[in-house]
Amino acid sequence: MAAVNHQIRLAARPVGLPTPSDWEHTEESPGEPGEGEVLVKVRYLSLDPAMRGWMNDARSYVPPVGIGEVMRAGGAGEVVASRHAAFAVGDLVTGLTGVQEYALVPGDALIKVDPDLAPLPVHLGVLGMPGMTAYFGLLDIGRAGEGDTVVVSGAAGAVGSTVGQIARIRGGRAIGIAGGPEKCRHVVEDLGFDACIDYKAGGVGRALHQNCPDGIDVYFDNVGGEILDAALGALARRARVVICGAISQYNATEPMRGPANYMSLLVNRASMTGFLVFDYADRYAQAAREMAGWLAEGRLTSFEDIATGGVEHFPKTLLRLFRGENTGKLVLEVDPG
Ligand SMILES: NC(=O)c1ccc[n+]([C@@H]2O[C@H](COP(=O)([O-])OP(=O)(O)OC[C@H]3O[C@@H](n4cnc5c(N)ncnc54)[C@H](OP(=O)(O)O)[C@@H]3O)[C@@H](O)[C@H]2O)c1
Repeated sequence: MAAVNHQIRLAARPVGLPTPSDWEHTEESPGEPGEGEVLVKVRYLSLDPAMRGWMNDARSYVPPVGIGEVMRAGGAGEVVASRHAAFAVGDLVTGLTGVQEYALVPGDALIKVDPDLAPLPVHLGVLGMPGMTAYFGLLDIGRAGEGDTVVVSGAAGAVGSTVGQIARIRGGRAIGIAGGPEKCRHVVEDLGFDACIDYKAGGVGRALHQNCPDGIDVYFDNVGGEILDAALGALARRARVVICGAISQYNATEPMRGPANYMSLLVNRASMTGFLVFDYADRYAQAAREMAGWLAEGRLTSFEDIATGGVEHFPKTLLRLFRGENTGKLVLEVDPG
């Protein structure tokens, strides 16, 4: 194949926010699939806060990206060559493609997507990993149901926006926490949350008590830090605190800030549980079907924030997550086809 595969590789381990010198731009041939492999032309890349953790040389749920390796990323694309019986040229798929234009991926690690259900970027958002995170974190770990008051931070983002909407579909109240008046307007008016607290205005603890007079039944935490402490201070009896992420700490150069208010768990007979969406992989298909049904019925809304410019724009686009510059699922368009 005469095409060139442009790639972004990790050049150095960042201290704090990643800088341009942490990345290297390379070009090589896309290659040919070996037995059981599929060559995917990447159409969209998923930009995820977890990428920052993958760049650290630290023990985690996956090995760190090695120096000189193509940056790990989820992507959605089209099969252009296949040596796997389940995939044919033209199929649309999602999987770990990396930040590059072509990816050789074992077919067993790919998910075939149905473009009739929703456009491709939605399969990286509500119908993809962030949607699954919201669904299983809220329903399986948070056990949210009828009448529950659910509070979610990062409420205008990919996971948080879906959490609040599912909470309402399941008969609960949804209170978001997001940065700035425009994001809070979006969360209430476009996503249908009952209320949204602008944490940048301060007074989160007071606002939580006002909006949750009987306490928080489920707190879905995407940000950690001070906001987690404020939520711990407003729990209801037998509350469930779902530890999904802690983006406020991902670029910290000081030791990570832990929860100070944890005795609230004892006082309220509450639980705090961390989870990883990948543990639910065998249930993704069932959850995606249910979520696709909600999308079709207009009960669930999907927002994607689509950046353009191809893989060379990955380094600066990633920073938007940590600066709060995205609304909805942040996706980088590589080649829409
Ligand atoms: N456990 C799992 O399996 C799993 C899977 C997927 C994602 N996650 C986690 O879920 C969380 C949300 O991910 P996402 O993909 O949906 O990202 P996202 O919410 O779409 O984007 C990140 C948002 O975080 C907020 N933020 C950034 N810095 C912040 C700070 N210092 N304090 C408070 N908020 C800050 C910003 O919104 P504002 O403008 O509102 O500040 C930003 O838009 C992340 O923590 C991620 O690591 C976990």
